[in-house]
Amino acid sequence: MCGIVGSIGKNNGRDFIIEGLKTLDYRGYDSAGIAFLKEKEIKIYKDAGSVSHVNSLIPNKENGNVLIGHTRWATHGKPNMINSHPHLSFNKQFALVHNGVIENFVELKNKLISKGITFNSDTDSEVVVNLIASIYIDTNDVLEAIKRAIKEIKGSYAIGLIHLGEDKLYVLKNASPLLIGLGEGYNMIASDASPMIEETSKFLELGDEEYGYITSKEAIIYTRDGKHIHKDYVTKEAEMIRHDKNGYDHFMLKEIEEIPTVIKRLFDFYTKDNEYHFNKSLISKIKKSDHIIFLGCGTSYHASLVGGRYFEEMLEIPTASYIASEWAFHPMFPGKKPFIIFISQSGETADLIHCMKIVKERHLDTLIITNTKGSTLERGCDYSLILHAGVEVSVASTKAYAAQVALLLLIVAAVKGDINIAKEMIASLPIISHIKDNYKDKIKEIANEIKDKKSIFYLGRGYDYYLSLEASLKLKEISYIHSEAIAGGELKHGPIALIEDGTPVIVFITDKVTAASMRGNIEEVKSRGASVYVISTKNLSRDSDKIIIEEYPSYLSSIIVSTVAFYLAYYVSLFKGYDVDKPRNLAKSVTVE
Ligand code: F6R
Repeated sequence: MCGIVGSIGKNNGRDFIIEGLKTLDYRGYDSAGIAFLKEKEIKIYKDAGSVSHVNSLIPNKENGNVLIGHTRWATHGKPNMINSHPHLSFNKQFALVHNGVIENFVELKNKLISKGITFNSDTDSEVVVNLIASIYIDTNDVLEAIKRAIKEIKGSYAIGLIHLGEDKLYVLKNASPLLIGLGEGYNMIASDASPMIEETSKFLELGDEEYGYITSKEAIIYTRDGKHIHKDYVTKEAEMIRHDKNGYDHFMLKEIEEIPTVIKRLFDFYTKDNEYHFNKSLISKIKKSDHIIFLGCGTSYHASLVGGRYFEEMLEIPTASYIASEWAFHPMFPGKKPFIIFISQSGETADLIHCMKIVKERHLDTLIITNTKGSTLERGCDYSLILHAGVEVSVASTKAYAAQVALLLLIVAAVKGDINIAKEMIASLPIISHIKDNYKDKIKEIANEIKDKKSIFYLGRGYDYYLSLEASLKLKEISYIHSEAIAGGELKHGPIALIEDGTPVIVFITDKVTAASMRGNIEEVKSRGASVYVISTKNLSRDSDKIIIEEYPSYLSSIIVSTVAFYLAYYVSLFKGYDVDKPRNLAKSVTVE
């Protein structure tokens, strides 16, 4: 995944790179590094750890005219100093930062080793810098070396490259994002607009297999075949880019507490004068389809399960929800006229981009539900609906999940033409505020009791099962406790073997159709020694339940009760002393397959 920033001709380039890397650390944060192009050498400072840590390694006076920086999410090789970027070529003439995956790096590395070239790291990225440096020995022309290298490299890459003795910042890109920002008397590159948005609103988007360079005055771009191309700049706004904790200790807590506002904002955006306000052709395409195919990953996949249920229950349109990384290798197109809905908070998830390419070959209608206008998926799909959730900084998705479910509900309600569904959703929002104001202490109590457990189970059926899946994912990703979600009826088919004395089992009971069966499940796990924590709605509650929530239409469970699950995961992680917003091994945007 990784984030890239570079600049040329910028006053105080070092501060720009450091701040830019901090902005991009949603793309990975296990190591960082910067290269300064000096007159006689390329100076590199890098290490495992945060951008601030690396900055502390750089002497105060260090600066330069041409700089490249990187924040890493390890794909090839452990997060350590050697594997951190920038990578220096074997002859110390070139340095490179890379985001993506070089699929044929073993083959290329062996070829270079057979020519006597030595490697320091375990990364695929070092292969590219050595490949370009070795071709350059023959061509004596960096652009020609890059052009030839592109023909040899297979995989995804966004690369910033510097060459000793030249005041230029070279770029090349395929299937990973890279933007050039145009300044006044200086130019920049970055993985997305956020590090550059305070400096410029003018950007050049590099296309796949394009390459070129920037100087402080110009940006020169070529196609794969070496044809010079003129690109018009695109403008981007600063909207969606500011990161501010607003007095909260963590972004996650702030983002959970923004959920009611986010949902109200969605309502305001997609309804007007008591009517839904969606693109008419989108609604008509959905009405005419005989099957909805959902594609998503992680939390977004969980939202699609809820959305699927809405389509089936409220519109009687059959659906299939697929995990994108599975579907990509075994694409299925149920129905004669399927309509495809991608769900992705970031709009940059590589598994989904892969799926989008497959769907495009079939010329099927596509919708992307995303929080990120201008993202690769947003640009690539026929229709896009924006979540308007505001930037979600915490790696664990909360408000974006709630917004995904809410928007899916609004779409279904619009196809059905029933404005009351949207109104019911808005009328239920005070319950979320009630949870915030009244249940935090109880949730903290539960968090304290379960925080040192090795394994935790979530149980539910129907909407409560989808909720359990999301609750379990959230807990494991930020508390590092093994957790599993089990559909109530599946317990006896295997998982109950794991229940022993003191195993925490968190049970959601918010649906009257399945409530009685869930009470039966509770008895089953209790008799095997489980410590049970029930979260129920008032009409279905028993006195012993831990958290009892006011009544609301049960299809809203994933929006309302998810907040309880999010708080629980948050407090467990907090009490364990972990970095809530930046859990280990993860990144906010998963831009590698
Ligand atoms: C978990 C989480 C991830 C993402 C997944 C897909 O809290 O956020 O599971 O949902 O990586 O990301 P997007 O939605 O950006 O495609």
